Amino acid sequence: MFAQLKPVATDPILGLMAAYREDPNPLKVDLGVGVYKDEQGHTAVLKCVKEAEALRLKQEDSKTYIGMAGDLGFNAHIEKLAFGNSHPVLLANRVTTAHTPGGTGALRVAAEFIKRANPDATIWVTTPTWANHISLFQAAGLKVKEYAYYDYDTKGLKTEQMFAELAQVPAGDVVLVHACCHNPSGMDLNFEQWQRFTELALERGFTPLVDMAYQGFGSGLDEDAKGLRYLAERVSELLLCSSCSKNFGLYRERIGAVSIVSADSQVMELAKVNLLSVVRSIYSMPPAHGAIIVSHILDSAELTALWHQELAEMRDRINNYRQLIIDKFAAEGITQDFSFIARQHGMFSFLGINKAQIDRLRDEFSIYMVGSSRVSIAGLNHANIDYFAKAVATVLKG
Ligand code: LMR
Repeated sequence: MFAQLKPVATDPILGLMAAYREDPNPLKVDLGVGVYKDEQGHTAVLKCVKEAEALRLKQEDSKTYIGMAGDLGFNAHIEKLAFGNSHPVLLANRVTTAHTPGGTGALRVAAEFIKRANPDATIWVTTPTWANHISLFQAAGLKVKEYAYYDYDTKGLKTEQMFAELAQVPAGDVVLVHACCHNPSGMDLNFEQWQRFTELALERGFTPLVDMAYQGFGSGLDEDAKGLRYLAERVSELLLCSSCSKNFGLYRERIGAVSIVSADSQVMELAKVNLLSVVRSIYSMPPAHGAIIVSHILDSAELTALWHQELAEMRDRINNYRQLIIDKFAAEGITQDFSFIARQHGMFSFLGINKAQIDRLRDEFSIYMVGSSRVSIAGLNHANIDYFAKAVATVLKG
């Protein structure tokens, strides 16, 4: 039976990670997967995480099951982190949260939940969107459609086209919106656009699904959640998928959360039993480690302050490199306009170079980026930025 399986294409992001690891070139540069690296090119464990892990080792006295919703302390923290301490949806007891195996786990649980609530729902995603969104939703049996978002020509948003297309989305469908640090383009909705998005959600009756995988990597923890908080104050229902992979650097621990905001606390109870039953049917309950680490950090004012500091360091380093890329390109005599890189947020930007140029960068210079020309800016450091800028200048000359 297994011989009947059809070949499957390598994942565009994870395949790149494997290719980079195998490349023996000492000058190789990894701008592929969205993983933070420091000035030494290392993805270090955050200090606050190390301290929380030491605490966990000391305090943990049981390995019994934690239950389908996962760690309840973590869930309460993650709701406050996303919505803010006294958001109306929290005060009205309208939110139920389950901690999940990573942000991808959150999205899959959300998809199965949507399927239960409305088996005919179509989920609308931005063009372009994270490489895994479409296949993940289709695997859960949802229909997927795209709406206009990034403009490859102007390096901004296709604002009017986007809102015209969203104005056609029928009630009962779901629209995925990136909370901040749009993956892959780095181009976010501004506050006025969040307001327009909210108006349309109310007018059309579609349900927003907010994907927040990079809270704190754009402008700050609260700033990055501003659109989500505004939206959640006005619509009666939404789904939120969040992740602690990037902002706590807990990638391999697989820790994320799905939060369902319902119209009132009664519907919330209905949403909760369904959410837990979805979890039970997929993996019973999530692994505990990452959630307890995050809980330990957020339970402690001291560790929270350390986390804020470490998160700000990561964010600032990436933002500094956004300007540095522009300066280094200019110093190499590149005349094309790359100023858009400084206007974008989070780990990624599209360079906007073509496939032949991307292939040359990989084959001749061992510089790895996603085939769409998405670069993970955190892969740059003082030791490789000149090499990178020179290589780009070479391929642009043709
Ligand atoms: C990325 O977009 O690079 C990250 O979200 C990692 C992944 O799983 O694709």
